[in-house]
Amino acid sequence: MAHSQADDPRVMVRFPDMLRAHTLANMRDHLLALAEIQDQLARGAFDKASDIAEQRLGMSSLGLHGAHDVAQFMPQGMQAAGTAMHRSASQFAIVAKDASVTGDLKGSVAALARVTQTCVACHAAYRIQ
Ligand code: HEC
Repeated sequence: MAHSQADDPRVMVRFPDMLRAHTLANMRDHLLALAEIQDQLARGAFDKASDIAEQRLGMSSLGLHGAHDVAQFMPQGMQAAGTAMHRSASQFAIVAKDASVTGDLKGSVAALARVTQTCVACHAAYRIQ
């Protein structure tokens, strides 16, 4: 079910075609969400940045992404990487919400970097058929 090749250390994970297309579309929305979050941070709109993170990437996005359907095709490590992303996005949402009072831009950017690191970690380890 899952294997890697000599020239590409990433583990290949097989998804049914429809689920693969759906997952990649979600991924493109993840990237769009990151761009929107950065834009809102730059404007000092911490509340908006927080809401985008929670709804599109955080624990609240699990139903939206059909995470339950997809998870059954993922090796354990990939599931864990997905959970790490949702958790870190919800943590960012809390930091950014606090920043709407404290104005802590640095803390928000650092929390956002931790979200991006979870994208990088999963991409380094897995690809999908
Ligand atoms: C649980 C694993 C996982 C996480 C977490 C993850 N991705 Fe992905 N993403 C993948 C896989 C697997 C692919 C397909 C790569 C391949 O087959 O070469 C992918 C592909 C993509 C693509 C390409 C979509 C396309 O149309 O080809 C984008 C953009 C992307 N991810 C953005 C993100 C962003 C931004 C994040 C973090 C907010 C993220 N991903 C988090 C696993 C993940």
